[in-house]
Amino acid sequence: TQKHTRYRIGVSQCSDDEWRHKMNNEIVREALFYDGVEVEIRTAKDNNRNQIADIKYFIDKKVDLLIVAPNEAAAITPVVEKAYRQGIPVVVIDRKILSDKYTAFVGADNYEIGKDVGQYILNRLHGKGKVLEITGLEGSTPAMERHKGLTDVLKEEPGIEITASVDGAWLQSVAGEKMDSVFQTNKNIDLVFAQNDRMAIGAYLSARQQQLEKEMLFVGIDALPGKEYGVEQIINGVLDATFIYPTGGDKVVQVAMDILEKRPYERDTKLSTALVDKTNARVMQLQTDHITEQDGKIERLNNQVNEYLSRYSAQTMFLYACLII
Ligand code: FRU
Repeated sequence: TQKHTRYRIGVSQCSDDEWRHKMNNEIVREALFYDGVEVEIRTAKDNNRNQIADIKYFIDKKVDLLIVAPNEAAAITPVVEKAYRQGIPVVVIDRKILSDKYTAFVGADNYEIGKDVGQYILNRLHGKGKVLEITGLEGSTPAMERHKGLTDVLKEEPGIEITASVDGAWLQSVAGEKMDSVFQTNKNIDLVFAQNDRMAIGAYLSARQQQLEKEMLFVGIDALPGKEYGVEQIINGVLDATFIYPTGGDKVVQVAMDILEKRPYERDTKLSTALVDKTNARVMQLQTDHITEQDGKIERLNNQVNEYLSRYSAQTMFLYACLII
């Protein structure tokens, strides 16, 4: 059966990685709970120009609502403002724009996360040591805010020195290369803080090549469940700690639907974070495995319902045909 479409939602993702995939799955799954909602997702692959084109595509398509995770704030702000000015409600997620021309924001507080990381480092190094920071893409707001949070905590601490802060562009390969060149001049590092787990793993692999991986600790952000992602790397002893950066795709769709159906909604929905280290990684893994299993069941149930409906409509058609004859 072709359900009639009531709302078309365009999703413009800045990147295409495991964190985005998790969020996209949550968005699509949550949308199944609303009748007649069509979701189209585009990914810009960390490229501002791609993302501007994606958003223009959604504007031309006259979507009923736009969800956007802006790659770099300054570059993406004008096209988001354009959508908003044309009357398309805009839900900004995870990364921010440099303007208040949007309808709602859903995401974690990256400044707070940066401060939490700073506090963790302070305790973990007992107030003394050398830290290397690998940031995300320079122009993306989580990179700026995580850095600011970290430095605001650590600048008060004379024993802790941030020896360098290099741009890893949110990517494992870039972080690895940056780490290789840091090691050429500086091997005296107690802790590497990478602004996501992927980059932390890239840094770890670079250190391992130099047989330095046991000399320093690696801390990341995201704490994704799943094979070889953050939580598992804590259990494996690759990462020392990571912080949950919630994807919250289900929440994003709930806010979008509140806006579309003219219910009251929060302009700012704050998703929360938490520390994951070896004391709780196993518990988290058990729980997320269970959730993943349940999610799979919801999807299977949905497929069964669709199959049933299409069989039912085929039968009805047949019945009509018989009646007409
Ligand atoms: C995923 C990602 C995460 C990071 C977030 C910041 O695309 O790179 O790893 O925490 O974006 O916006």
